[in-house]
Amino acid sequence: MSEKKKQDIPVHVGIIMDGNRRWAKERNLPTFEGHQKGYEKLKLASDWFFSRGVKILSFYAFSTENWQRQPEEVNYLMKLLLNAVEFSLREQAKKEGYKVLISGRLKELPGDLPAKCLEIIAETQANKRGIINFCLNYGGRAEIVDAVRKMMKNKVELEQVHEGMIKKYLYNGDLSDPDIIVRTSGEQRLSGFMMWQAAYSELFFIKKYWPDFEELDADMIIKEFAERKRRFGV
Ligand code: FPP
Repeated sequence: MSEKKKQDIPVHVGIIMDGNRRWAKERNLPTFEGHQKGYEKLKLASDWFFSRGVKILSFYAFSTENWQRQPEEVNYLMKLLLNAVEFSLREQAKKEGYKVLISGRLKELPGDLPAKCLEIIAETQANKRGIINFCLNYGGRAEIVDAVRKMMKNKVELEQVHEGMIKKYLYNGDLSDPDIIVRTSGEQRLSGFMMWQAAYSELFFIKKYWPDFEELDADMIIKEFAERKRRFGV
């Protein structure tokens, strides 16, 4: 294959990691095993995408709606998250040079999680090999509500409001918009993921459940992205 042109490689890929529970159910396994596999896949997929030249990965790890799940499942996901930011993802980020960011209502997370999230952000802030933007307690509508609140608190004048400045008020407003959003498990919707930023994202809906996502899927997505024609409304 000829060498890819730089503009063919997506800068920012967003991933809606869906299907963990169905993956577990089909194997008669408890739900938590699906989430555990999903978490392992997140770490592998980070290496796959970054090694192909992607610079930013946004993972939808826990939505503002996910609190409505069974308490045991929510507790398990929180335990996984804590493990990620305290141990395994932290080690990976330090070893591989990934910078970790969190998008979402951080302060509402339980126990040590907010503090540990701030620690991993601070510890990895100088890393340059890729950015993992973890969307936790994240909702696209909540993000816009929070942005409007911050603007009002800052007493932003009516004339100062424009699209670029609204973007700056989003959780990590300096990140470029996702070029691609992938959702696994066959569902074809965004469920509030990056509502503002997704305006011109190329969408990829993959039938496989997230725990079954493979390196060749990352290759397929990047290859197909290079073949799509983006017009941005022009
Ligand atoms: C969607 O599958 C997945 C989630 C709501 C949680 C995503 C979390 C992970 C992949 C674990 C990785 C990250 C951490 C650190 C928590 P689902 O549960 O909605 O599955 P279903 O669509 O089959 O019901």
